[in-house]
Amino acid sequence: MRAVTPMRLGVNLDHVATLRNARGLDYPDPIRAAQLAIEAGADGITLHLREDRRHIRDADIERARALAIPLNMEMAATAEMVRIACGLRPHACCLVPERRAEVTTEGGLDVVGQRASLGPVVAALRDAGIRVSLFVDPDPAQLDAAAGLGAPVVELHTGAYALGHAGELARLAEGARHAAGLGLEVHAGHGLTYGNVGPIVALPEVRELNIGHFLVGEALFIGLVEAIRRMRGLIDAGRRRAEIG
Ligand code: PXP
Repeated sequence: MRAVTPMRLGVNLDHVATLRNARGLDYPDPIRAAQLAIEAGADGITLHLREDRRHIRDADIERARALAIPLNMEMAATAEMVRIACGLRPHACCLVPERRAEVTTEGGLDVVGQRASLGPVVAALRDAGIRVSLFVDPDPAQLDAAAGLGAPVVELHTGAYALGHAGELARLAEGARHAAGLGLEVHAGHGLTYGNVGPIVALPEVRELNIGHFLVGEALFIGLVEAIRRMRGLIDAGRRRAEIG
C-alpha cells in the first residue's frame, strides 16, 4: 500500500456573485454560500477578484477573510490587485491570466514569457506573507519558470482535460510529477465535475483541487451543501483507492 496524502477541496464561489450581480442586489450572498461550503467539508474558499469586478467585489474578499477556513484570492498580476492583496492579506493568492473579453480563465499564465513582470509580483505577495500559486498549463518549461520565480505552489489548468482533449491526462500526470520534483506544491482545477474528477484525484502529487462552476450549477438541483458533499465524497474515496492501489 502506498501512502497518498489527503486532497484538499477549495470551493470557488464566483458564480454565486455572478447571480447576485445580475440584479445588482445583495443576494445571493457568496459569503453565506461560503459558510455552507464549510459545513459541507470544503477546506478552502476561492474567490476571483477580476479587474472588471464582474462577479466578486472588494467587499466580498474583505468579508471572506473572517471565514473559518483559508481564503485563496485569484487575481491578475496587476499593480491594483497586488495593492489590494497586500492590504487584505488572504491566506493565498493564485495568479491567473486575465483578458476582459474572456468568459473564464482560458489558459495558464505564460510564466516563461512574463518572467520579468511576474517576478516582482510574486516577491511582493510573498513579502506580505501570502502563499503564492501560479495557474499554469502542465508544460515543463512553465513549471521550471514558476519554480525559478520562487512561487511555492502551482495550480495545473485542467480545462483542456475537462474538454476531453486527447493526451491531456498524461500531460497533467507528467506535469504534476515534474512540478513535485521541483519542490512545488501541486494544485489543479478548471472544468472539474463528478464525471471527470476521478483521474485527477488519482494523481498522487496533486494536493488540492479548486472547483466552482459545476458545483454552483449542481446546487440549483440538489442544494449547495449536498453538491459539495458529493464532490468531497468522490475525492476522499478516490484518494483512498489510490492509496490501496
Ligand atoms: N482554478 C482557477 C485558477 C480558476 O481560474 C478557476 C475558474 O475561476 C477554477 C479553478 C475553477 O474552475 P471551474 O469554475 O471551472 O470549476
